[in-house]
Amino acid sequence: MNDENEIEDIGSNPAPARPIGDVVRARLSRRAALRGLAGVAALADGLVEGAHAQISASQLGTADIPRQGGPSTLQFTELRHQLAQGDAVAEGHDIQLVIRWGDPVLPDAPPFDPNGQSGAAQARQFGYNNDYLDFRPLPKGSTNSEHGLLWVNHEYTSTQLMLPGTAGRAASRRSTTAEQAAVEMAAHGGSVVEIRRVDGRWQTVPGGAMNRRITAHTPMRISGPAAGHPRMRTSADAEGTRVLGMLNQCAGGNTPWGTILTTEENFNSYFSGEAAATGEQAAAYRRYGIPRQPIYNWAAHEPRFSLDQEPNEPNRFGWIVEIDPFDPASTPIKRTALGRFKHEGCTHAVAPDGRLVLYMGDDERNDYVYKFVTARPWSEGDRDLLDDGTLYVAKFEEDGALRWLPLVFGEGPLTAAQNFHSQGDVLIETRRAADLLGATPMDRPEDVEVNPVNGRVYVLLTNNGTRTEVNAANPRPRNAHGHVIEIIPPGAGTAAVQHAALEGRWEIFLLAGKPGHDAGARYHRATSDQGWLSCPDNCAFDSRGRIWIATDGAPSAAGVADGLYAADTQGGGRALTRLFYQAPTGAEVCGPLFTPDNTTLFLAIQHPGEDAGSTFANPSTRWPDFQPGMPPRPAVIAIVRKDGGPIG
Ligand code: FEO
Ligand code: CA
Ligand code: CA
Ligand code: CA
Repeated sequence: MNDENEIEDIGSNPAPARPIGDVVRARLSRRAALRGLAGVAALADGLVEGAHAQISASQLGTADIPRQGGPSTLQFTELRHQLAQGDAVAEGHDIQLVIRWGDPVLPDAPPFDPNGQSGAAQARQFGYNNDYLDFRPLPKGSTNSEHGLLWVNHEYTSTQLMLPGTAGRAASRRSTTAEQAAVEMAAHGGSVVEIRRVDGRWQTVPGGAMNRRITAHTPMRISGPAAGHPRMRTSADAEGTRVLGMLNQCAGGNTPWGTILTTEENFNSYFSGEAAATGEQAAAYRRYGIPRQPIYNWAAHEPRFSLDQEPNEPNRFGWIVEIDPFDPASTPIKRTALGRFKHEGCTHAVAPDGRLVLYMGDDERNDYVYKFVTARPWSEGDRDLLDDGTLYVAKFEEDGALRWLPLVFGEGPLTAAQNFHSQGDVLIETRRAADLLGATPMDRPEDVEVNPVNGRVYVLLTNNGTRTEVNAANPRPRNAHGHVIEIIPPGAGTAAVQHAALEGRWEIFLLAGKPGHDAGARYHRATSDQGWLSCPDNCAFDSRGRIWIATDGAPSAAGVADGLYAADTQGGGRALTRLFYQAPTGAEVCGPLFTPDNTTLFLAIQHPGEDAGSTFANPSTRWPDFQPGMPPRPAVIAIVRKDGGPIG
């Protein structure tokens, strides 16, 4: 989500005490307020126009010449910060469009017609707001970097940019017609798309046999300790084991057996009703930000989204969903053992004894970092591992120690005295259980990713304008720019990293913001005026263990777009970040993903044109098509080196 979403969708753990003035100030974040004042016309005036606006070194003053080499092992010449209608990548690379919102996924998909959209068409076409990406090489099990299945999350809909005749952002979502809501619902979920590199160019394979669209209406199974719980039952599902659809898929991960783990994040946005204020579960709704007044108008069109008609329906969202991309007939499974929160990331590591460890974040201000450890070791052929195991929440001690606290019914405060009567209760109210354990409130934990080279685990913390009380792991009050933490499990750097261990160490990798300008910003001292970043959100590691950080919420008022930045994690170039890719205005960068051979870097460019005042009729950019009347379209791109070599 970008900073506008932050105002509406990203809530805040109410537990940490703070003065109300800070809450108000945070909701009217500086960037959003500045953007709103500037307005879309002024914004468009200030933009560099065109599809591939790029400023060359010869246009720059000598003080801010982009850097290359030096103590960094990265070989590309960094880009210069700019805000533009188009995107840009470091010299010597090509940007290839792989698939856009509305492109066909299923063989009988109608051609995209932005003025004639329907739910039925959208359910066969590529969805909106692409986020997490995964690439499963074909043939299955190979390391082929030229042919495979692309998995794509579709997080949410920017209704004001996708549908003709809509108003501004909040108003357009709150007032959709039934047909418009049907388009929105079909644009959520995920896509499986077969892709292939032909003569150096990535393209979709028309009619790919495993292609699939998953939407807000795809039948799914609920498994694990919360399945069948009375609070999971609805009038459509008396057993509490089946649900339609998944919502707000943000980041994600995968398993060693080849399935995708896709994460439900801001599921609260789709539900509304008076019960949010007066219902039996009002306190639980509040902890997840489920509102009385609609954010999306879905409750008006489908009764299950009304808390007053189906008070348990929201309990069936906020989970990790496991999907087999190779079997389009398979039923996705919501794995409740992994907890219910605004899930971000679900990256696996294998402990030396074979148990699988999954790292996860809860993207809310002052919420937590989690991991799940399976009960038994993984062995070839075992594909049903995620219902049994232990969920832990992280406590970052002031002295650099890290402790993982188990969320187990009957242990510590998680008993009947606190109204927990089963493990299902603990999981449905994971956040309240973690509050009681004294987990460390973090600055919006997004992606949590394992670096396969040094064994450290990287936690990307987007920002937290509400923080008043600092702790060692979140050291800045009103943290506008976010930071990156390294978790160091015992054995990190050896062949036997103890990912399942209940203790470890942690360090801060970088504190984002502009060095010398934003208080507390901290990088490698050679970081240039172009290399600093704001709002780290997702990341990937190349085969040399270098980190590639995607941002969400860059300070556009300062002329900085979101982008992708790379840095060494070890050696003399550690935390020397460099700008590699700059997104079009209004967009965040999601899903960074390398092919196994590192010659292609896929990126999901989400909500292009989502600036204040930008609408379907008058968007701030028409990326990537730049055709009159064509709205901006979220799209997956592939970046390759012109000489075909590995990226970086
Ligand atoms: Fe969907 Fe936390 O960004
Ligand atoms: Ca997003
Ligand atoms: Ca985000
Ligand atoms: Ca995200």
